[in-house]
Amino acid sequence: MIKKKKICVIGSAGYIGLPLAVLLAQAGHDVLGVDINNEKIQKLSNGICTLEEKGMDELYQKVYQTSRLRFSSNPELSDVYIIAVPTPLEKKTKAADLSFIESALSTIIPLLREGNLVILESTIPPLTCRNIVKKRIERETKYNTLGKILIAHCPERAFPGNLLFEFTNNDRIIGGVTKDATKLASEIYGSFSKGKIHLTDDVTAESVKLAENTYRDINIAYANELKLIFDNLNINVKDVIKLANFHPRVNILNPGIGVGGHCIAIDPWFLWKSSPNVSKMIPTARKVNNFMPEFTANQILNHIKKISSKNILIVGKSYKPDVNDKRESPALEVVKIIEEKNPEIRIKFIDPLTDNLKSFSLLEEAKDMDMLIILVSHSVIKHQLQKNYESIVKVMRMPEIIQF
Ligand SMILES: NC(=O)c1ccc[n+]([C@@H]2O[C@H](COP(=O)([O-])OP(=O)(O)OC[C@H]3O[C@@H](n4cnc5c(N)ncnc54)[C@H](O)[C@@H]3O)[C@@H](O)[C@H]2O)c1
Repeated sequence: MIKKKKICVIGSAGYIGLPLAVLLAQAGHDVLGVDINNEKIQKLSNGICTLEEKGMDELYQKVYQTSRLRFSSNPELSDVYIIAVPTPLEKKTKAADLSFIESALSTIIPLLREGNLVILESTIPPLTCRNIVKKRIERETKYNTLGKILIAHCPERAFPGNLLFEFTNNDRIIGGVTKDATKLASEIYGSFSKGKIHLTDDVTAESVKLAENTYRDINIAYANELKLIFDNLNINVKDVIKLANFHPRVNILNPGIGVGGHCIAIDPWFLWKSSPNVSKMIPTARKVNNFMPEFTANQILNHIKKISSKNILIVGKSYKPDVNDKRESPALEVVKIIEEKNPEIRIKFIDPLTDNLKSFSLLEEAKDMDMLIILVSHSVIKHQLQKNYESIVKVMRMPEIIQF
């Protein structure tokens, strides 16, 4: 059993930082959650959970009752500092914007003491631990990091919508700048994780995370490319994919309206940027997936033209089903394009999760509409559509329902 540590989680009001802080406190560590979002820190300090996730409120309330989880705007002297701040894309250059990491480092560097461990959980390009974090710590403290201050990367694989389960059960990759850092970081994660922990070095760990998300992006792009080709030929792409997947070594994904979120739409560029002279496939896959919202908007516009409908109900704003996260959501892009291309159309655009609706009735919303388009199939929407299909069709002016 690892000795309980004092741990600062920087970015603790976020999707990754909050579950992590709660799980570490539940495992018995003394945790300080730190965030620059003062409103959320205030709520979290007052026992209000700010993240809607399966099982999150219950676990947060349980841990909040102990004195092991506190929140603050500023870090304190600790044994371990875990950084889980955003690493967005610099849209023009396609480089990782590491400014949040840099400012998180600025707040903890004055507190670092010999033997401390700094863990980067944020997704980062290869060599960030060595070339940025290690060098800054060496430059701005009296410590040579080899052995004095430990640095590791523990990339996160958890899936919003099922964060707590995945935090606890997924296999993890942990890579330190030194073997001591790898060992201590694996002990910290091993204190709450039931998944297998695979040990490596920092550069490999950084690369693994990007390789995983790029794999997802490229495979989605292939499914989307098939949709573009087979729609062009008037061949049903879903039938093609379903039958192709009976091949024992083929598993084609489903096409969609595009790729969004904070990871898959962004991380492939970090990998590409690390070797743009040799990487050919990544930008192509990104181009295909980025085109899908426009393709979807055109499909909808063509359909609208055919039935001359004017009142359209569009449902689903998040980047994927069953989450309230709208970051990089292709659904927003689809609606923006429709509105730009045909300002005459009256669109009601809603999402029970992202709009935080206390009660939601698809039947009520569909009343007198000419068309219902479901861009994101949250479970609640699928369920209501299935249950009330006949009634929904009856209350609509023209019963046109398209589900993507
Ligand atoms: N969300 C996911 O599904 C997911 C999955 C795997 C990896 N990641 C990676 O984890 C990292 C965090 O992502 P997220 O989705 O939790 O982001 P998020 O925006 O939900 O949370 C980040 C938090 O960091 C805070 N923050 C920013 N700068 C800060 C600073 N200097 N000091 C203290 N707090 C600061 C923000 O206020 C915010 O609350 C990113 O690198 C992301 O790519 C995210």
